[in-house]
Amino acid sequence: MFTSYLPTKIVFGVGAIEKLPNLVKNYGRKALIVTGKKSTKQTGLLDKVRGMLEAVGIETVVFDRVQPNPISDDVDEAARIAIEQNVDFVIGLGGGSAIDSAKAIAISAAMKDAFWNYTHAGAGKKPDRALPIVAIPTTHGTGTEADPFAVITNPRTKEKVGIGYDVIFPKLSIVDPALMASLPKDQTAYTSMDAFYHSLEAFLNIAANPYSDLLAVDSMKRIVSFLMRAYTNGQDIEARTNLAWASTEAGITETLTGVIANHAIEHGLSGFNEKLPHGLGLCITGPYLLEYMFEECKERLAALAKEVFNIQQYSVSKAARLFIEKLYEFQELFDLNQRLSKFGFKEEDLPEIATVAYRIMKGVVVKSPKKLEEKDLVEIMKKAL
Ligand SMILES: [Fe+2]
Repeated sequence: MFTSYLPTKIVFGVGAIEKLPNLVKNYGRKALIVTGKKSTKQTGLLDKVRGMLEAVGIETVVFDRVQPNPISDDVDEAARIAIEQNVDFVIGLGGGSAIDSAKAIAISAAMKDAFWNYTHAGAGKKPDRALPIVAIPTTHGTGTEADPFAVITNPRTKEKVGIGYDVIFPKLSIVDPALMASLPKDQTAYTSMDAFYHSLEAFLNIAANPYSDLLAVDSMKRIVSFLMRAYTNGQDIEARTNLAWASTEAGITETLTGVIANHAIEHGLSGFNEKLPHGLGLCITGPYLLEYMFEECKERLAALAKEVFNIQQYSVSKAARLFIEKLYEFQELFDLNQRLSKFGFKEEDLPEIATVAYRIMKGVVVKSPKKLEEKDLVEIMKKAL
């Protein structure tokens, strides 16, 4: 049994941004634009969006202090501005951090309450409303444009928590691959592999279903086929379009099925050390997780070996092994097989990281095909040290 609830209007394609004013003109008179410190200013996108909205009579307020791993203090500060300024809707413009922040701000501003109260690591309250959210991604990986999730870190407890509520599905997502052409090489690889792992983890999830399998396989294939092109030439719009669609598809797989332990481990790691980029962290531990639960997922890996890497092999175990090898080789092309020790992680840190990861993300750990406890997460991270 599975449920499909995908209420977001997604407008996808090169030039989709031009449709923004028409699509939001009935959302209200005032918008809060949530964005990062630099890139949307450097590319001129922020000014362009403000101009387009103002031309149809929508006033804009900008919150431009979102950090790469967004923190709850900034969410509360932006929500205070949203309430003071009486904004009608929130636009997340940028990468996953800007859009996830917009989602969190939309809850906090509508509920008039501190954001952390709406996480299970905090007071565990459930929001019954949020301001309408518009997502305009400039990266192709998080899938946040197509899902009801946001990831926010509490800077005091180092808890990097994922929330998921139907009220924060974007009302509208504009996925325009042309806005992603200026994404630097390393970010291009990290964000694409984030999408890859959303799909891979959804495919291995014990709740996997034919709807999400279809999208998961297609998105992994697109990433394997087009990442090198976008990595080599950022302006390759055909490659960017395929990666953008792969990200959106992967976001839908997250909604229909969801991720497993690799994401829990990564949240533990990058909550502990925010310098570890999310997509890179997933690549560092991913192959070790697959090895660790090999017996439980070999049939699914063998199916992926054929679909994603075109491996023709009758032996299930061999095909599954080849999948892990190919994944490792693919990651190597983009320098993604790094070690945790390079980021300053030490063996003695791992039990604490595993405890936090397990506490804040137990819900996804238990969806893994092998029963994993805290000590198992430590073992997996140890191999990646
Ligand atoms: Fe992710």
